[in-house]
Amino acid sequence: MSSNTESTSAICPVGTDVERAAQLLANGGVVAFGTETVYGLGADALNPHAVSRVFAVKERPKFDPLIVHLADYEQLSTVADVENSLVEQLAAVFWPGPLTLVLPKKPNVPDLVTSGLPTVAVRIPEHPQARALIAAAGKPIAAPSANPFGRISPTRADHVAEQLGTKIDYIFDGGPCRVGVESTVLDVSTNPPTLLRPGGVTVEALEDVIGPVALPSSAAETHPSAPGMLPSHYAPGTPLQIRESVTPPDPSRKLGLLAFREPSSRDGWSNVEVLSSTGDLVEAAANFFAALRRLDALELDGIVADSFPSEGLGRALNDRLQRAAHTE
Ligand code: TXA
Ligand code: MG
Repeated sequence: MSSNTESTSAICPVGTDVERAAQLLANGGVVAFGTETVYGLGADALNPHAVSRVFAVKERPKFDPLIVHLADYEQLSTVADVENSLVEQLAAVFWPGPLTLVLPKKPNVPDLVTSGLPTVAVRIPEHPQARALIAAAGKPIAAPSANPFGRISPTRADHVAEQLGTKIDYIFDGGPCRVGVESTVLDVSTNPPTLLRPGGVTVEALEDVIGPVALPSSAAETHPSAPGMLPSHYAPGTPLQIRESVTPPDPSRKLGLLAFREPSSRDGWSNVEVLSSTGDLVEAAANFFAALRRLDALELDGIVADSFPSEGLGRALNDRLQRAAHTE
């Protein structure tokens, strides 16, 4: 085998070298990095060539725009118009953190990043290593979640290594993601603002600060303005079904249970993953994607998942479950 063939199939370096990761980004490379939500697959947002590699690595359709990640609030006006007074209000409370705002874009943001939309989605991540990386790169960083399009989101460096490790330049290890579900995406151009994707900042917390938030209409489900809202997304390879009541498993099938709390019985399940023994939604969110991944690796006939209470992070978790369960 030639050394060339070997190098293309090798997994990229994984580490915590911020200078190395920043240099790669500044020079047009693709670097996965940990954030508080999920791992991102980063590239210089102002370099269309680098961004097009992100789409290629993810096999992501070009109609699905990316989130631009910033190191600080001062950087915001370099990519977006900040005239809306809600922006400052929301930023003061939720940034840095798991909130993405959709704002009118500046002309220097390539169409590839925004899929030709007049708006750009931006957020300042809370994870200190992520912010240090963006600051050191000296560029706004476009980053979707670091998973192949439509599949389970990564919340650990080794999840990224498994799925995309041979196709990228570096994995900047930020440890396990604290929040565990993606950022909340909010469009502030509408009145009231519209929730495009439930996520790490709860609707309740948003409404405490800015008053009522509009939930997406069912028309938005068929013509999604945030393609993370496509009906099928975050999907395991194993068929997934949501259970509404405590039904026992079908004994003729090898089934795994993704349980919110400890189930009343483990009988008949091939495997059980408990997301939070105390029924804590924050803990459940932090464990969610990793537990789904472990069940998916067991080659079961199916995965059955409990739905979550429809409040707080439970909304984002139910959203991910419904899309993971959707088949077309
Ligand atoms: O937590 C997160 O948001 C993670 C980490 C890495 O920051 N990123 C993430 O990116 O989840 P991605 O690409 O998997 O999801 C981005 C979502 C998609 O639903 C996309 O359609 C929406 O943001 N989006 C991006 N730009 C938009 C725009 N201009 N208008 C409406 N939605 C937009
Ligand atoms: Mg994603």
